[in-house]
Amino acid sequence: MKLCVALDLPNEKENISLAKSLKKCDVWLKVGLRSFIRDGKNIVSELKNINDGFKIFLDLKLYDIPNTMADAAESIAELNVEMFNVHASSGKTAMKMVMDRLNGVKNPPIVLSVTALTSFDESGFWAIYNENIEKKALQFAKESYESGLEGVVCSVYESLMIKSHTNDNFLTLTPGIRPFGDERKDDQKRVADIKTAHENRCDFIVVGRPIYQAKNPFDATQKILDNIGEF
Ligand code: C5P
Repeated sequence: MKLCVALDLPNEKENISLAKSLKKCDVWLKVGLRSFIRDGKNIVSELKNINDGFKIFLDLKLYDIPNTMADAAESIAELNVEMFNVHASSGKTAMKMVMDRLNGVKNPPIVLSVTALTSFDESGFWAIYNENIEKKALQFAKESYESGLEGVVCSVYESLMIKSHTNDNFLTLTPGIRPFGDERKDDQKRVADIKTAHENRCDFIVVGRPIYQAKNPFDATQKILDNIGEF
C-alpha cells in the first residue's frame, strides 16, 4: 500500500515546504485542482526538483465530452506525472477514447476513474445518481475496467468488492483516510483508518488534512508509513 499526500495547502509556498519536509519519505504527492489552477503546470517540475523520486498524482477529475477528455489526457501525458484521473460518470466512450489516445504515448501515466466521491453519504449520492453508493460504484468500476483504465478512486469500503468483480490487479485509491482514528472527519463521510484500508486491499491511500494540519507533518507521515509497514 502506497501513501499519497494531498498538497491542498492555501498557497504554493506552503505546498512546496510540505513537499520539502517529506523529501526523504517514500510517498506519492497529489496535486489537486486548487494547486494546479493556482500554481500552473510548473508545479510538477518544482516538486520533482525537490526529489525526483516523488511520483505525482494529478487529481483533476476530468469530466467532459469524449474528444475534449482525450485532448486533455494527451496534454497531461506531456507533464511528466505518473497518474491522473477522470470521472467514471463521463461514460465508457469517453474513457475508452482517453485510453486510445494514450496508446501511442511513451510511458503513459496510470489512469484512474472516480466512482463515488468519499464526501457523499447515501442520501446525497442518491439525489444525483438515483442509486445506492455501493451498487453504482461497482457499476462505474466495471465500466472503467472494461474501458481499459488501471483502477478507480473509491472509498475503502468498496475496494475489496471492486477487485473481486474486476481483477485483483485493478488498482484502488482511497481518500477519506483518518489514519489515527481520532481526527475530525471534516467534509468526508465514509472514512477509514489504515488497518481497515489494508484489510480492504487498497493500493493507495490519500491523506491530506491529517498530515498538513499536523503539528509536525513529517512525523505524521512517518507514523503512517511505519503503520503501513507493519502489515
Ligand atoms: O484532507 P483529506 O484527507 O480529506 O483530503 C482528501 C483528498 O482527496 C482531497 O484532496 C480530495 O480532493 C481528494 N479526494 C477525495 N475523494 C475523492 C477523490 C479525491 O477526497 N473521491
